[in-house]
Amino acid sequence: MTDQYAVIGNPIGHTKSPLIHRLFAKETGQDITYTGMEAPTEPADAFAATVRRFIAAGGRGMNVTAPFKLQAFAIADERSERAALAGAVNAMKFENGRIIAENFDGVGLVRDIEVNLNQPLAGKRVLVLGAGGAVRGALLPFIAARPAELVVANRHVPKAEAVVAQVASSSRLIACGYRELETMGQFDLVVNATSASLTGQLPPVAPSVFSPRGAAYELAYGKGLTPFLRLARNAGVQGVADGVGMLVEQAAEAFEWWRGVRPRTQAVIDRLTVPLK
Ligand code: ATR
Repeated sequence: MTDQYAVIGNPIGHTKSPLIHRLFAKETGQDITYTGMEAPTEPADAFAATVRRFIAAGGRGMNVTAPFKLQAFAIADERSERAALAGAVNAMKFENGRIIAENFDGVGLVRDIEVNLNQPLAGKRVLVLGAGGAVRGALLPFIAARPAELVVANRHVPKAEAVVAQVASSSRLIACGYRELETMGQFDLVVNATSASLTGQLPPVAPSVFSPRGAAYELAYGKGLTPFLRLARNAGVQGVADGVGMLVEQAAEAFEWWRGVRPRTQAVIDRLTVPLK
């Protein structure tokens, strides 16, 4: 039987994952199906029941999107270190009835920055805005890239401090508020990992953090030039990007984890990219 995969969320209509994985399957010659699946949010065990039904029907793996990333963490039998630190799961593999859980969002982000955007992070100054689930998921992959300094800035500073306190690092790791950024000079990379862009808002970040020779990265995608990217561009930053590459790269990580073969990503990224104007 053809191996079955799915992305589970609610709502699920917007998801690009089936298209991405079908393109990967075609390119690598893998015989799989990949569908979008909407699970009910009520009652509380509806998500787990939907996953169990998929496993019973022969499902081999799933991607997980909002609002189920925490519930996926809770039902897992095994969790990777990245998933454990994030407290959230975006990919699951089913083996002998067991749920093995991963979080590829952070590795996808760092790979997009270092490989696709050609911005190696070793020895660089990196600023991450926000301290929610997205940042917890990205912290270990950022540290693995060995920047000289990694600053996590958040409106609510104790939340940034708590995130930073969870990890050990050979890079300088700093948690702070937005005001302190004004005296910290320029960063080679500034990543907006807040949820501000989802509502068209701008995190209160000073334009002085941007380096014209550096890069600015917006985790959200398909929203065009967000207020954050516009601020970066007005500060002279040439290298601005949104999260479409991260989306495709995290999918590639999951595909390789499931199928043992790495798909090529650039053509898929090009196909999904909405020009930043
Ligand atoms: P996610 O899991 O998507 O990261 P989250 O855990 O709800 O979402 O976290 C949202 C993050 O965006 C938080 O860091 C939040 O800052 P606070 O912790 O200080 O609330 C940040 N955020 C949301 N709206 C923001 C805004 N308008 N400006 C700056 N930060 C914002």
